[in-house]
Amino acid sequence: MDIIIKNGCIHELDKHLEHSGATKLYIITDDNVGRLYMDKLKGIIDDYTMGIYILTPGEESKSISTVLSIYDALIEQNMDRNGIILSLGGGVVGDIAGFVASTYMRGLKYIQIPTTLLAQVDSSVGGKVGIDYGGYKNMVGSFYFPELSIVDVQFLKTLPRREITCGLGEVLKYGLIWDYGLFKYTVDNMKNIYDGDMDILLEIVERSVAIKKEVVDKDRYDIGLRRILNFGHTIGHSIEACYGFTHYNHGEAVILGMIYESNIAYQMNLIDEGYFEEIYERLKGLVEPIKFDKDDIEKLIHRMKMDKKNIKDRIALVLPVSRGKVKLFMDVNEWLIAKSLEGEWI
Ligand SMILES: NC(=O)c1ccc[n+]([C@@H]2O[C@H](COP(=O)([O-])OP(=O)(O)OC[C@H]3O[C@@H](n4cnc5c(N)ncnc54)[C@H](O)[C@@H]3O)[C@@H](O)[C@H]2O)c1
Ligand SMILES: [Zn+2]
Repeated sequence: MDIIIKNGCIHELDKHLEHSGATKLYIITDDNVGRLYMDKLKGIIDDYTMGIYILTPGEESKSISTVLSIYDALIEQNMDRNGIILSLGGGVVGDIAGFVASTYMRGLKYIQIPTTLLAQVDSSVGGKVGIDYGGYKNMVGSFYFPELSIVDVQFLKTLPRREITCGLGEVLKYGLIWDYGLFKYTVDNMKNIYDGDMDILLEIVERSVAIKKEVVDKDRYDIGLRRILNFGHTIGHSIEACYGFTHYNHGEAVILGMIYESNIAYQMNLIDEGYFEEIYERLKGLVEPIKFDKDDIEKLIHRMKMDKKNIKDRIALVLPVSRGKVKLFMDVNEWLIAKSLEGEWI
C-alpha cells in the first residue's frame, strides 16, 4: 500500500490514475466534504468518466442500507473491475467506501483521500473497512487495503476544532505507546496545531502514519502487536457507548480513556507519579475528566467486559509502563479500574 503525505499532494492523483490505466471512477464522499472539495477534485480528474455518491454526514450513514444503495448506484453506472473507487472524506466515508470496494464484484481497487485528522492518521491506514450493524460499531467488515492513500494536510484547514481534538486523541496515543518525542512535540505545539500551522500538522501526521504503518505491517490481521493501538480505547469505548455515542466524539473519549488508564498504571506502580501527572496535566486541557458515580462505574465496567481483547470476563488493558511504551495486561483488577473512574485524584 502506497501512502503519499504532503501539503498539496491531492494534485498527484491524476498522475497516479494515469499509471493505473483506469477509465471509470466512482467517488464516495459526504455532503460537507463534497460541498467544500468536490469542484477541486473534479478539476483534477476531469478526463475520467465518473459517478458520485454523497452520504449524509455522520456515523448513522455507516450502515448496511447505505452500502446497498451504493451497490445499486454502481450497477446503474456499469461499474466493473477496471474502475476505481475514490473515497473522499473522514473515517465514515473511508470505512464505507473501503467496504464497498472490498465486496462489489469481489473487490475493486480503491484510493483513500482522507480529509479529517483522524482519518489521515488512523482509519485510512491499516486496511480495516466496515459498517455498524445490529447496534454495534464496526460489526461487519473486512481487511482490505487501498492501493493508495493520498494524505493532504491542506484538507485540515476547514476542519472544525472538535474534529482536530478527535484526531489528536490518536496522535497523542501514538506518542504514548511508541514515540514519547511525538507526544512532547504535539503537546508543546498544541496552539499552533489548532491555529492550522501546516508544517506542524504535516510533521505530526507523518510521524503518526509511520507508527501506525510499522505496527500494522508487523501484525496485518490484528492478532498480536496491533493490540497496543488500543491504549485508551477500552475505557474510551465504554465511555463513548455509555454516553450514547453523541456526547463525546471518538478521539475525545480516547483522551479520557488514556487519562483513566494511565491512572490505573500509576496505581499499579507501572509508571511513576511524575509521568502520570505529565499525561494528566497535558490531556485534561483537551477534555475535562469526570468523577463517575457508582451507577456509571458499574455500567462502564460491564461494557468493558464485552471488549474483544478479554478472555472470559477478565478485563484486559493496554497500560503505559514507561515514557512512550505500553504493555497488554490480561487481567486488571476491577477494583483498581473502579477507583480510577471514581476520580478522587482529579
Ligand atoms: N478503519 C479504521 O481502522 C478506523 C479507525 C478509527 C476510526 N474509524 C472510524 O472512523 C469514523 C470516524 O471518522 P471521523 O472522525 O473522520 O468522522 P467523520 O467521517 O464523521 O467526519 C467528521 C465530520 O467532519 C466532516 N469533515 C470531514 N472532512 C472535513 C474537512 N476537511 N473540512 C470540514 N469538515 C470535514 C464530516 O463531514 C463530518 O461531519 C468512525 O466510524 C470510526 O469507526 C475507523
Ligand atoms: Zn481510535
